[in-house]
Amino acid sequence: MSNISFSSVNELKVLLKEKNLQKILLICGENSFEASGASKILKDLLKNKELKIFKKKFSYPELNELNQIIESLKDFSPDLMLAVGGGSVIDYAKTANVLTESKNLKNEILNSNYEIKKKFTKLAVIPTTAGSGAEVTANAVIYIDKVKYSVEGNFLRPDFFFLIPELVITGSNKIKSSAGFDAIAQAIESLISKKSNDKSVSFAKQSLEISFENYLNYLNNPNIENTSAMCFAANLAGEAISISKTTAPHAVSYPFTSIYGVSHGHAVSLTLNKFLKFNYVNIKDANCNFDLKERFKIIFDIAKLNNINDFDKFLDNLKSKAKLENNFKNLGIDIKNDYSKIISGVNMLRLSNNPIELNPSDLKKIIIDKSL
Ligand SMILES: [Fe+2]
Repeated sequence: MSNISFSSVNELKVLLKEKNLQKILLICGENSFEASGASKILKDLLKNKELKIFKKKFSYPELNELNQIIESLKDFSPDLMLAVGGGSVIDYAKTANVLTESKNLKNEILNSNYEIKKKFTKLAVIPTTAGSGAEVTANAVIYIDKVKYSVEGNFLRPDFFFLIPELVITGSNKIKSSAGFDAIAQAIESLISKKSNDKSVSFAKQSLEISFENYLNYLNNPNIENTSAMCFAANLAGEAISISKTTAPHAVSYPFTSIYGVSHGHAVSLTLNKFLKFNYVNIKDANCNFDLKERFKIIFDIAKLNNINDFDKFLDNLKSKAKLENNFKNLGIDIKNDYSKIISGVNMLRLSNNPIELNPSDLKKIIIDKSL
C-alpha cells in the first residue's frame, strides 16, 4: 500500500478541453486557491473559458454564503461548476447545485423538506484537503444559526472528481492533521455503523489500512507518495460513509466547530476514543445485524493490536503526534458549563446510527469524562 502515487491533472485537462463546457463557475477558498497551487495549475486550463469565480470566506458552510452561491449559479448559468477546496467549498457546491429551485431555503433546510429534482449544472470537484471524502458522498453539511443540518440526495454526488496530491501537500499541518483524522474517524465509525454492509466494510478497511500507515509520515515528512495515499484513504472513507453514514463522534462534533471554531476532523477526534470505548464495553447490548466484536477485531488487526485499551492508546498517540489538542479546557471549551448549549446543537436522531443505544445520561457521561 505504500506505493500509491497518482495525479488526475491529465483527466482534468481532458474534461476542461470539452468544447461544450465553455462557461465555468469556480467555487474556491479565499486563500487556499492561491496557497494550494490550484490557481497556478488551473490558470492555463481555464484561459479560454468564460469564467466566474466565487471565493468563500466563512470557515464552515453556512446559509448566507450558500444563498450567494445559488444566486451566482442562477445568474451565470454555467456549463460546469468547479469546486476547488476543502470540505466546506465542496459542500457549498453540492448543495447549491440541487437547491436552485428552492422557495424558502432556510425553512426547507431546517425542516428537511427541500425538494431535489435535478442538478442545475454539471459539478466537478477537486479536493485540496485529504479528509472528508466529500467528492464522493451524496450529502452535505450546512450550518444555520450555528446548528448543523444535512442536505442529502443522490443528485448531490459530484459528476467528476480529481485527486491532485500536488494541491494537498501544500496545506498547513493544522489543516492536514484535522482533515486526515476525519478520514480515519470516518473509516472507523463506518466499520461499526448500524448501516454498514459488506461493501462499506471493504471500503473502510482499505481506507484505514492506508491511513494508519501514512498519516503521521504525511504530516511530518510529506511527499507525493504519502499525500497520494492520504487522498486515496479519504476518498475510500467517503465511499464507506456514503453507504454506512457516520456514528456518535461525528453527530456530537458539530457544535465544537460552530461554537468554538474547532476544525471538523479535530472536533470529531475529541470524543472518538470515548465513544469507541463505550461501544466496546457495552458490546453485549449491540443492536445491529452484524457481529460488533468482529468489526472491532478488524479495526484492532489493522492497527496490529488486539484490545481496546491498546487501541485507545494508539489513537491518543496518533492525536498527540498530529498535535490535535485533546483537552477541552485548552481549546477554550468549558465542557461542564457549556454541556447543555453543546448538546442542544446535536440532532439526537443522528445518534441512532451508533451500534449501542445512547440515552441522554450515557451521552453526558461520555462527553464530560473527567479524564479529559
Ligand atoms: Fe467527517
